[in-house]
Amino acid sequence: MHGSKTMVRSLLEGLLAGSSVDGKADLAVFPSFPYLSLTESILSGSHIQWGGQTLNPNAQGAHTGETSGSMLVDMGCKYVLVGHSERRAIYGESDTDVAARFKAALDAGLEPVLCVGETLEEREAEQTEAVVGRQLDAVINSVGIDAFSRATIAYEPVWAIGTGLTATPQQAQSVHAFIRDKLSSLNVIIAGQLRILYGGSVNSSNAAELFAQSDIDGGLVGGASLTAEDFLAIYSAVA
Ligand code: PGA
Repeated sequence: MHGSKTMVRSLLEGLLAGSSVDGKADLAVFPSFPYLSLTESILSGSHIQWGGQTLNPNAQGAHTGETSGSMLVDMGCKYVLVGHSERRAIYGESDTDVAARFKAALDAGLEPVLCVGETLEEREAEQTEAVVGRQLDAVINSVGIDAFSRATIAYEPVWAIGTGLTATPQQAQSVHAFIRDKLSSLNVIIAGQLRILYGGSVNSSNAAELFAQSDIDGGLVGGASLTAEDFLAIYSAVA
């Protein structure tokens, strides 16, 4: 819940000026719903994609205040985040709710970006793989492994989001490898092609080392994506 028309315009114009279609990384932004129209008008036809931050699991109907997948498609979105830790923790989305949103995204023709990750208590109790495995299983059991050919996963340890604490490259790589291995046991090709992003206090100083890990395919960036300068410094860190 950051931004304004002025901020969105300056951020997107800055990103367009500082990135290119033949850059090494794909770029996408996830503005708050009120700014999707402005985002579409600025980015349409460019190399930068955009998406929503969540969606309602229902296709349409009387759901005051909610936004459907087809509405996001109508606004030119390619992607939608599902299961961001703030949705899970503050708005009570269970693993089952997240799976329903993932399915709704696919049904609407969007590519879901599924966020998974453990809390600090869960990490300290050595439950990281159990928690991430459970979050993945809820989705796999609902839509099947093949659906992951049209999805992205973001590993976001909850303790690293917005806190300034980053998982070390080794900590992140270990969970990314766990995720890829788990999906490989179901479909090696899909798991090999899947993009697994790391999120949690990514910034211009730690991005290069994180992105150099073999199973880290990019970043899901929060605070450091709010100005073009900071975001482009991370974009430039892609090897
Ligand atoms: P952060 O946010 O980069 O500010 O930690 C990440 C996120 O909210 O996904």
